Order: sequence, then structure tokens, then C-alpha cells
Amino acid sequence: MKVVHTIEELRDQLRGQLRVAFVPTMGNLHEGHLALMKLARQHGDPVVASIFVNRLQFGPNEDFDRYPRTLVDDIEKLERARDVYVLFAPNEREMYPEPQNFQIQPPSDLGGILEGEFRPGFFTGVSTVVLKLFSCVQPSVAVFGKKDYQQLMVVRNMCRQFQLPVNILAHETVRDADGLALSSRNRFLEPAQRSEAPQLFVALQEMKARVEEGHVDPDALERHAIEYLRKRGWQVDYISLRRQRDLLAPTASEISAREPLVVVAAARLGSTRLIDNLEI
Ligand code: PAF
Repeated sequence: MKVVHTIEELRDQLRGQLRVAFVPTMGNLHEGHLALMKLARQHGDPVVASIFVNRLQFGPNEDFDRYPRTLVDDIEKLERARDVYVLFAPNEREMYPEPQNFQIQPPSDLGGILEGEFRPGFFTGVSTVVLKLFSCVQPSVAVFGKKDYQQLMVVRNMCRQFQLPVNILAHETVRDADGLALSSRNRFLEPAQRSEAPQLFVALQEMKARVEEGHVDPDALERHAIEYLRKRGWQVDYISLRRQRDLLAPTASEISAREPLVVVAAARLGSTRLIDNLEI
């Protein structure tokens, strides 16, 4: 695997390549990331991964400074997995040599709800860096995890509206044996919190089961799930039943008509914020 730190070196490596498959990450790689790279390998050649902790997508009170940066370990994992041909690991100066005043703002009915409501500016930061990374890598395929469900929709929407020639592929969420979705932030959980953390997925599964049993009142379904988690000590930002197609709230008749739905959730254990989702 070649490790490059500048856009110029990256372009040298990729000159003439028309089937590049790309996996953007912020590093601290786990099995979930490695699965994205395996999928990328089935859909393009060469596979390029990036590691860049993108300051633009963190709010002023968020965990940018303590976000785990583990480049040496990450390189070892990628070398062992043998799926990636080029790793692009730019520093901040390379990605943002001047203040990034020109940014991509997703429409508010997609980028301003759920994660966008609790993390203002998050999807503007994500869209801007993803567009910039696409411009550096020029992939024909890019792979994103479904764990960041709304992010996947924002990126798809951006590609469609700007007619970017990048096919976006989604990989299912990879979970630990107890159901906890893999995430770089899981390492912040203390042992007791780590034991409690799978309950977020339990709450999602419970809501799915209730919908499948015929419950059609979205507010009652959400109240029930929020109550379940609060009683166990979680601070819930949201746990919400949405339509898969646009992440807006379904009506009771859409729920009865079996419109494809997804339950999305974000909740905190102590200072660690976890997100997860489950399609119905
Ligand atoms: O999902 C992530 O790790 C990040 O949001 C991404 C897509 C790499 C952009 O910084």
C-alpha cells in the first residue's frame, strides 16, 4: 500500500485510472471500515482510502480535539487487510490551505433535521469535505456505511444534484456480537457504559417489532422508546421513525401501508454520543 500525504502525490499515483473505488474515513479504523474497503474492492480498482479528521464537521463544543488519531495502527490494519492500494492521509494545511469559505450547504429539509438539528453545520462540513475529497480522488465508486444513515442520504443527494459521476454504494452497519454498532467513539465508553450501550439497538429493535405488530402512532412509538432509554440513564437526542426515502416523519396511514421506514436514533451515555438506525 502506498501512503501519500499530498494531493499532488495522490494524483501522480492515480493518473489514468478510471475505475477508482474510494472509502473516505476519519481514521481509527475498525472492522466496519475494513468491510467498506472489501466492498470497494468488489466494485473498482484501485481502491483508495482516506484518513482525515475534518474540523469543518465538528461544532465548537464537540470532540474534534479528542477524536482518536491512530495513523500508525490504521496503516498496519490496512496493510494486513490488503484491500487498499493508496491511502491518502493529508494534514489540515493540505486540505484547507486557506479558510474554506466556499462550502456546500445541504437543503434544510434533509441537512437541518435529526443530526443536523443537534449538530448544526455538521452536514455542511461533511458535504464540503466529501466534495473536496471526490475532487482529489476522482473516484467512479465511493462506499459509505449505513450507520451514518443521514450522511449517506446527504452524500447521495449532493451527487445527484451536482451530477457528480460517482456511484455511491452503501454497506450494512457492522455490529459487535452484542449488537452495538461499531464506531470510533465506542472507545470512549467506560466498562459499565460499554455493557449498557447495546440497549440503543435493543430500543430500535423493539420499535421495529411494535411497528410490525401494527402500532401506527409514531408519537406513541417514539415516546415509548425514549422512556425506555431514559429510565436506563441515557440522554436521548432523538429516536424517531422516518420514511426511508426522505427521512421525513410518516403518517399513520403510511405506516399501515408499509411504506419503507427507518428508526434513527442518537443518544448519550455520559459524554459519549452514539448514533444508530434500523430499517423496517
Ligand atoms: O463518516 C465519516 O467518517 C466522515 O463523516 C467522512 C465521510 C469521512 C467525512 O469526513
